[in-house]
Amino acid sequence: MEFEKVIRKRYSVRKYGQRPVEDWKIEKILEAGRLAPTGKNSQCQRVYVLKSPEALKKIRENCIMTFGAPLVLLVLAKKEEAWVSPFTGRNIAETDTSIVTDHMMLQATDLGLGTCWVGYFDPVPICAAFGVPEDLTLMHILPIGYPAEDSEPSQMHLASKKTSEFVTFL
Ligand SMILES: Cc1cc2nc3c(=O)[nH]c(=O)nc-3n(C[C@H](O)[C@H](O)[C@H](O)COP(=O)(O)O)c2cc1C
Repeated sequence: MEFEKVIRKRYSVRKYGQRPVEDWKIEKILEAGRLAPTGKNSQCQRVYVLKSPEALKKIRENCIMTFGAPLVLLVLAKKEEAWVSPFTGRNIAETDTSIVTDHMMLQATDLGLGTCWVGYFDPVPICAAFGVPEDLTLMHILPIGYPAEDSEPSQMHLASKKTSEFVTFL
């Protein structure tokens, strides 16, 4: 798919069909995450792939926003590996993992899959359920799957600002 078509086609899918995501597609999505740029090439991202019935049961019990997806990615950061700005002292892990997540989201879209970026979660019970080590921080959750037949973009998808509302030419 052309890149412009991919970014126009993507919307947050909040209802999924039961069809499992093929392993070769999962590999391509993870490869997109691998190729994403990170600050000073730190590659602080870690990704947990939840696709077994046990793992999906656990995430559904601990996060209300997985929307029945047959595949859920947990995007984590090993923050101590991330670049820290010497000017602001800011650890860049949030930015790095966001780029990784966006790459995977767009790759999934290109493969005919739906996704929804999820930030509404309590990391404590999720990390406990999956035995996440203390040096990893859960940053983002990405449900992935084939959209249900009646899945539609929400009103929020249609409420994009005009370019002129957020761009300043100087
Ligand atoms: C950082 C981030 C966090 C988000 N968290 C959630 C979430 O927890 N639950 C949800 O349903 N959608 C979540 N979304 C999806 C946004 O609501 C959605 O992208 C926005 O409303 C635009 O709609 P669209 O993705 O359909 O274009 C999140 C998106 C981003 C980028």
